[in-house]
Parts: sequence; structure tokens; C-alpha cells
Amino acid sequence: MLRILSGIKPSGTIHIGNYLGMIRPMVESQERGQLFCFIANLHSLTTLFDGRRMAQNSINALIDMMALGIDPKRSVFWLQSDVPEVAELTWYLSNVTPVGLLERCHAYKDAQAKGIPANHGLFSYPVLMAADILLYQSNVVPVGKDQKQHVEVTRDIAEKFNLAYGEVFTLPEPEIPEAIAVIPGTDGQKMSKSYGNTVEIFGEEKVVRKKIMGIVTDPTPVEAPKDPDKSVIYSIYKLFVDEGRAAAMAERFRAGGYGYGEAKKELFEAIWSYFEPFRRRRGELTANLDYVNEVRIAGADKAREVASATIKKVREVVGVI
Ligand code: ADP
Ligand code: TRP
Repeated sequence: MLRILSGIKPSGTIHIGNYLGMIRPMVESQERGQLFCFIANLHSLTTLFDGRRMAQNSINALIDMMALGIDPKRSVFWLQSDVPEVAELTWYLSNVTPVGLLERCHAYKDAQAKGIPANHGLFSYPVLMAADILLYQSNVVPVGKDQKQHVEVTRDIAEKFNLAYGEVFTLPEPEIPEAIAVIPGTDGQKMSKSYGNTVEIFGEEKVVRKKIMGIVTDPTPVEAPKDPDKSVIYSIYKLFVDEGRAAAMAERFRAGGYGYGEAKKELFEAIWSYFEPFRRRRGELTANLDYVNEVRIAGADKAREVASATIKKVREVVGVI
């Protein structure tokens, strides 16, 4: 069966760019293969140095992903650090990874360009990510556009390892849903925590409404016809409603006499009601942390079965006895 793997860093709060770009495709992928999904807490350590927040973010991320539709009955769902084999594999992979390959990776290059001193963790971030993917012999990795490079690096590392030691690893394919590759934020740029233009999935109603009402628009007057495809409002709206409702909004844009304010209100309503069942589920899970913990432990056990088989093979070929 097709093995689909993806990880998400526990960032504290997730936004609709994360949801549309990666979480929803991941949830939907449970229909067509076996999903391996984990919370990438070890990756967060490259930039977060507050232990208490780290721990809390990890728990929140477990809850959020379960609330948003990761189904532990069908999928393998775990916390990255619960499978220590991933750190061991990172070391084996490090030794077939050229420094030049990592120097070309964007997170490190960005830090360099901004004059931010990079730690070794940030530099070798893609090797840990390669270990995540290769440890579980994944076939497909659904990611946002910004993570494509990391999956390509993973393939390079796997090829180098296989060339040196024989065919140990499956080569993964990145999968980027084109229609939703980059979700714009409230200022029209890519939605991202770093740009302060996000709309949080589980934000407070007042705050979410304010953010949506604050979406930057052009000064076209209410009466004038507008091109829906040039509007951030429409481009997000159509991802939350069925085709009929999307077509109706597009039509109103084109007809004129439809202001951005009104469109924003509709967008808010669509988003707020879309996440209603997820908010409810999240409330239930937050009140039942024992259950969340049971799922976490059972998931790690299942993940470890696959991980230890891979590690056994790797140790054998590299000669670690
Ligand atoms: P941020 O840019 O807010 O820091 P992350 O880098 O933590 O977000 O992204 C986590 C995941 O969500 C990644 O797989 C990324 O590709 C996806 N993602 C983030 N922002 C967007 C966006 N605006 N459009 C599509 N996908 C996104
Ligand atoms: N680096 C990814 C991100 O920032 C998270 C991640 C870690 C991941 N390991 C992975 C994604 C393995 C896919 C596969 O979003």
C-alpha cells in the first residue's frame, strides 16, 4: 500500500495557510493510502529555546491535528521524539551528506543572508527531515511549496546512501497540490507567521473577524465590476465552500455593486462555520488529555515497528554491530 508521510512543526498556533496547504491534503490522503503523520518537535528545537513552551506546543499540536481529522484508527500518528531511532539515522545519513548540499538549502541560506548566526541544528535540519522520511520507507510526501527542496535533498541523500551501501531506502516523491500551493495572507503576500498576516484556525471569534475584515484590498469603488481571481478574499473563500457558492461569489464580483466589505463578511462566515465541528472536537480532546496521550503512545509503538526494521538494516550495512 502507498505510504504517505508528512510532519508538522508544533508552532503554537496554526493558521489557515498551514491548513489548506498541508493539513487538509494530509487528512484527505487517509482515503488513498496509509498515512504516517507526526509532530516534528525535534525540528522546532532549532529555533525555540523555551522548554516549557516547547512541551506545551507539542501537546497542542497533537490535539489540533486530531481535532482537524487525523484518524488514529486508520493512520499512524506520533510525536517525532518518541521514536529515538530518527536521531540515530540522522547520524548515519549525515555521513553521506555533502556540506555543499546543505549550504544550498533555503532556511540556512536565508539565515546567512540576514546575518543571523545559524546553529548546527538549523544547518542540518534537512538531514533530520531526510531521516524522518527514509526511516519509514515513505513513497509520497505531501508538502507546501517551501518544503519541496527538502524532499529533493532527501532523495539525493537516499541515492548517495543506496549507492554506497546497496538499496536500503525507498526514494520518496514530493507532492504539492498546485491549486493551493501558496495561500495568501491578509496583506496579499504568502500567509506566514513570520509576516504577521495569518488567520488562526482556532483563534477567538473577535480576533478572526478583525483579521478577515482587515484583508488589504484595492480602492476599486463598490459599484465597479471586479475580477474575483485578483482578490485575496475570493481566492481563500473558494477553498472553503462548494463550487456553487464559489461561483456565486465570483458572479457578484463581476457584476459590480458588491463591495469588498460584504465579501469579507461572507468569507468570515464561511471560515467560522467550516471550523465549527473542529473547534468542538478540540474542546473535547482538551478535556480528555489521557485519551490524547494513549493515542500518542500507541502511535509511537506502531511507528517504531517500522523504524526499528529500517534501523536494523542500516546498522547491518554500515557495519555498526
Ligand atoms: P509559517 O510560514 O507560518 O512559519 P510553516 O513554515 O510552519 O508556516 O509551515 C508549516 C506547513 O504549512 C508547511 O508544510 C508549509 O508548506 C505549509 N504552509 C505554510 N504557509 C502556507 C501558505 N501560505 N500556503 C500554503 N502552505 C503553507
Ligand atoms: N520541515 C517541515 C516544515 O517545516 C516539517 C517536517 C519535518 C516534515 N519532517 C518532515 C514534513 C518530514 C514532511 C516530511 O513544515
